[in-house]
Amino acid sequence: MALTIATVLSSSLLLFMMVMMMLGSLSEAQMVPATFVFGDSVVDAGNNNYLPLALAKSNYPHYGIDFPTKKPTGRFSNGKLPSDLLAEKVGLPGPPPYLSIKNKKDKNGSISIPLTGLNFASAGAGVFNETGNQLGSHISMTEQVEDFSTVYSKLSAVMGSGGASKSVGKSLFLIVIGSNDMLSYYGSSDLRKKFTPEQRFNQMTSALKSQLEMLYGYGARRFVVAGLLAIGCAPVQRLNTKNYECDPELNSFCNAHNQILRSTLQQFKSEHTDLSYTYFDTYTFFLDLLDNAANYGLTETKAGCCGAGKLEAQFFCLPLSAYCKDRSTHVFFDRLHPTEATYRLVVDAIVDGPKKYVEPMNVRQLVST
Ligand SMILES: *[C@@H]1O[C@H](CO)[C@@H](O)[C@H](O)[C@H]1NC(C)=O
Ligand SMILES: *[C@@H]1O[C@H](CO)[C@@H](O)[C@H](O)[C@H]1NC(C)=O
Repeated sequence: MALTIATVLSSSLLLFMMVMMMLGSLSEAQMVPATFVFGDSVVDAGNNNYLPLALAKSNYPHYGIDFPTKKPTGRFSNGKLPSDLLAEKVGLPGPPPYLSIKNKKDKNGSISIPLTGLNFASAGAGVFNETGNQLGSHISMTEQVEDFSTVYSKLSAVMGSGGASKSVGKSLFLIVIGSNDMLSYYGSSDLRKKFTPEQRFNQMTSALKSQLEMLYGYGARRFVVAGLLAIGCAPVQRLNTKNYECDPELNSFCNAHNQILRSTLQQFKSEHTDLSYTYFDTYTFFLDLLDNAANYGLTETKAGCCGAGKLEAQFFCLPLSAYCKDRSTHVFFDRLHPTEATYRLVVDAIVDGPKKYVEPMNVRQLVST
């Protein structure tokens, strides 16, 4: 009899533990309540659609051709962006553009903030306020951070300040910024006379650090920061070289910038021991991807898909442009922006990649800190 009870007890304990383990994996989404996204066209999910004076817009065909709705959304790609794909990885919906909810009021006049996150990114933006001014209006990184502070106040009103700070502290803050600052510097003889590359990249990373400090001040504790892509390998940059190779000087600038960014993030962490971050070495990952592209079914590494002229990169992707039949074989969709196929590989590496690409930890490790 005693034995039977013991058996029943231990088997129900086993059952209980199994149920708890199942709950553990089911409630994984709870480990990350929301994702908040900051940056440029790589992650702008449509904010610029709401800026009448923005020139950097992609709210027309053939952008979005492989998006679930098959419609243009303002995303500069054929389908989903890293911001959408990262959210999916942690079991959340892709965060909508902040400007799509900013002025949407309920009957009682209050704005309902989605609790699973928001996207503040804006095509053309940079860490410097003046970056992207030639592209008409856009939301600079500084303003994106200010927009988050508005959202933080609203979250506090809804969840209480304790609830908001708990939720925000467990949320992922994805930051993809700096390419436009880099391109402005690279292409400006004035700036290059004024600042050495090292001086300029130090200015960039210290501007970014103060923006990260502000987010930290609003309770952000889990950062996912992407280094610069090897922009010299974008179709439009390849036009400048013999045989359409990657532009070596621009690539060396990107790599040098990223080394400074790495140490800036180490510094940021050493000043705030209660934060965690994933730094993604986009540059190294991307060059490895180009070397092994065929293994991933990516057979076109140089030309864009949508555009015109050499490498489909002499003109923008426009509604009348020709475009490739199979986007899943192209690394780039337009003359500057990767395809969803490329972004999927990028996000896989951010979440589960080895130390070579993600330091000091990948996102799977980050969300269990
Ligand atoms: C206003 O609407 C929101 C969302 O519908 C609701 O949560 C809130 O309680 C409402 N406030 C008032 C004062 O009715
Ligand atoms: C950037 O713009 C913000 C306003 O959005 C302003 O507060 C800040 O001082 C500006 N920074 C610089 C360096 O001009």
